[in-house]
Amino acid sequence: MRIALGSDHAGLEMKKEVLSLLQEMGHEQADYGTDTPQSVDYPDFGEKVSHAVASGEADRGILICGTGIGMSIVANKIPGVRAALCNELFSARMSRLHNDANVLVLGGRIIGKDLAKEIVRTWMTTPFEGGRHCNRLKKITLIEEKR
Ligand code: RB5
Repeated sequence: MRIALGSDHAGLEMKKEVLSLLQEMGHEQADYGTDTPQSVDYPDFGEKVSHAVASGEADRGILICGTGIGMSIVANKIPGVRAALCNELFSARMSRLHNDANVLVLGGRIIGKDLAKEIVRTWMTTPFEGGRHCNRLKKITLIEEKR
C-alpha cells in the first residue's frame, strides 16, 4: 500500500519510527513533513496528508502530533477521510474492523515508540469487516454531502 505520513514537531521522532516500520513491512511511503524539530502548526501537515488520502493519491494516512487530538480534528474535516485517534491496540483494531478508518492518528507525547509500532502493525493488517458497517459508512458520506 502507499501510505502518506505527516507530523508536527511533537510527532517527528515517532514518525521516523513509523516510517522504518512501514518500510520493513514493504509499504510505499510519502512523507509530507515536518522534517525538523522546529515548532510548526499541525493543521498544515494534517491537511496535506488528508487530501492525499481523500484524492486516492495514497491508500491510507498516518498522522502524529503531541496528543493526536489536533491532527484528528483536522483530518476529519476533509470529506472522505475517516481518521481514528488510537493510542491503544483495541481502538486500532476496531477502527479498521468497524469504521474502515483510512487515517490513523497517534499521540507522540502520550505513548512510547514500541506501543506506537504495535498499533501501526495492527492497524495496517486488520481488514474492514463490511456487512452492517457499510450502511453506517454510507450515512457518514451522506452527512458530508449535506455540507
Ligand atoms: C504542539 O505543542 C501540540 O499542541 C500539538 O502537537 C498537538 O498535541 C495538538 O493537538
